[in-house]
Amino acid sequence: MRYPREIIEEVRLQNDIVEVISQYVPLKQKGGSYFGLCPFHNEKTPSFSVNSEKQFYYCFGCGAAGNVFGFLMEMENCDFPEALKKLADRAHVSLPEPEKSAQAMVAEQLKARLFEIHTVAGRFYHDILQSDEGAAARSYMKERKLKPNITRKFGLGFAPERRNVLLEHLKEKGYSINDMLQSGLVIENKDKNGYHDRFRGRLMFPIFDPQGRVVGFGGRIMGKGEPKYLNSPETILFSKSRNLYGLNFAKAARKKELILVEGYMDMISLYQAGFHNVVAALGTAFNQEHARTLKKFAEDIILLYDSDEAGTNAALRAIPVLTSNGFRVRVTQVPDGKDPDDFIKENGALAFSKLLINAVHYISFEIACIRRNYNLDNPEHKVRFATEAADILSKLDNAIERNVYASEVSRMTGVEEGAIRSEIDKRVKKVDDAFQKEAEKRRQMNQKASSVGGHREKGLMEAQRSILYFSASEQKVYEKLVSVLDKEDFTEDLYYRVFQTIGQLWGEVGNVFPAELVSYFENTAEQKPVTEVFAIQLPAQSKEDLQKAMNEAVKLLKRTKIDKLTATATTVEELQGLVEAKRMLDSLYITI
Ligand code: UTP
Ligand code: MN
Repeated sequence: MRYPREIIEEVRLQNDIVEVISQYVPLKQKGGSYFGLCPFHNEKTPSFSVNSEKQFYYCFGCGAAGNVFGFLMEMENCDFPEALKKLADRAHVSLPEPEKSAQAMVAEQLKARLFEIHTVAGRFYHDILQSDEGAAARSYMKERKLKPNITRKFGLGFAPERRNVLLEHLKEKGYSINDMLQSGLVIENKDKNGYHDRFRGRLMFPIFDPQGRVVGFGGRIMGKGEPKYLNSPETILFSKSRNLYGLNFAKAARKKELILVEGYMDMISLYQAGFHNVVAALGTAFNQEHARTLKKFAEDIILLYDSDEAGTNAALRAIPVLTSNGFRVRVTQVPDGKDPDDFIKENGALAFSKLLINAVHYISFEIACIRRNYNLDNPEHKVRFATEAADILSKLDNAIERNVYASEVSRMTGVEEGAIRSEIDKRVKKVDDAFQKEAEKRRQMNQKASSVGGHREKGLMEAQRSILYFSASEQKVYEKLVSVLDKEDFTEDLYYRVFQTIGQLWGEVGNVFPAELVSYFENTAEQKPVTEVFAIQLPAQSKEDLQKAMNEAVKLLKRTKIDKLTATATTVEELQGLVEAKRMLDSLYITI
């Protein structure tokens, strides 16, 4: 997908990076730059800087860097065209129809057809639910206390037992078998002599993406049978390790706190009872991708998993995934091994609110879980429990939290608080020491590496970066450099492409603004090193010093190339040529 360069630059210029980033990160001005807490890693003192003049952001802590497009791509977890679209909307710039490659066009059209197929299928199943054929499904829903308005809101439906009703319906609407297969809603017969519907005799739950488009289905068998839920397979539209059921509705609730449940029915049932900030992972363990998806919508999570053993273990596994992504996590469970759906139907919304209010800090939950393995009347068990609890508490970053929960453990066991605290401190210290030792080891290793080979490697990268920096500073300088450097002189293909782009900008635009240059590199993995070239201000230098530095950089690159070629040369002529090239190098000196 390609937009004209001028439009991209227009959008960039209309979106001041300081203003855009301020919408996500509180920034404080310090000199020409703005500082704040880096949104891309966990930190307590600000090392995230935004340079208003250069229109860059740069984090001294984690190295995140880029222009306004890159920031949005990272922050909103989107690709370049999406970031462009968002910023264009923000600045009221209208985008022309993008120029697309033929291949991208085909992919996009397929995607559009798959969305259509899902919409058509959703409506089809929904209509069947209302028809005579859906009578049994309707009474099943009634039994499960699903109200008609919820059925409509969630687009619930019914897939009849007949083998290929959906297939025939889609065929009538003009979709090809290939598209149907790609949607995952139609599959090939076992003996490969035809095709049939994936979902048969099931209550259908459309799965929406965060924008509210149907991207897949979950189908529940009515009554007993295996599998209880059948889900859409992974397709272009749907991935169960990324999608969360109900996120489109929860998002609309605009709460910073989300309730995370295990099942479809739990989600719907809570929603029906008036708790709209609920999502469910789709029959798979809560993972990093889920966490990243949720990050855009919430800061606090209440984990509400089934209170059976499987649910408890799943909650224990979800906790570190959530905490490591910066969520505040509390946990609550319904009593007696039930699930939230059962509970709310038996006890009502008020009782359920009480469960939410009583949600505990995840550490309390973890401690309560291990508590069950011990009999605290037995002194030996008491010691083992308190020791295991100290282990858990030592993992808390916050010393105040450590103390608060230490006194909780003290109350549970009757062990003196001071003793528990000193066990915790011992463990914290051990981890700190191990960390220090590891850091020291790494430092020494790096030093060693850079004194052999690594040193040269670093010098080469530095040389290429300064060549780019100089090339972007003045057209005259670029022209000198381009007359002596070619592709083979660069060891990094990316740097060579930056060099070419600088030339293109001098030629076509007449100036090189680094933040504009960065938008030529549309993935964030490339934007980062490109930004780094310009993000760090070089100290002011005299013209002579600059000239000297530039020549040193050029010569280092050329010498390295010649050495490399010499090592692999196979003929005398080749070697002679290289010796000659090396001699020429001595007399090479560019002036600016
Ligand atoms: P549960 O068995 O707890 O389902 O599985 P539930 O939501 O309470 O369903 P009801 O109340 O019996 O109708 C939790 C989740 O695990 C996934 C589904 O996402 C389900 O909501 N699951 C479960 C499957 O994907 N396949 C299965 O066969 C079972
Ligand atoms: Mn259930």
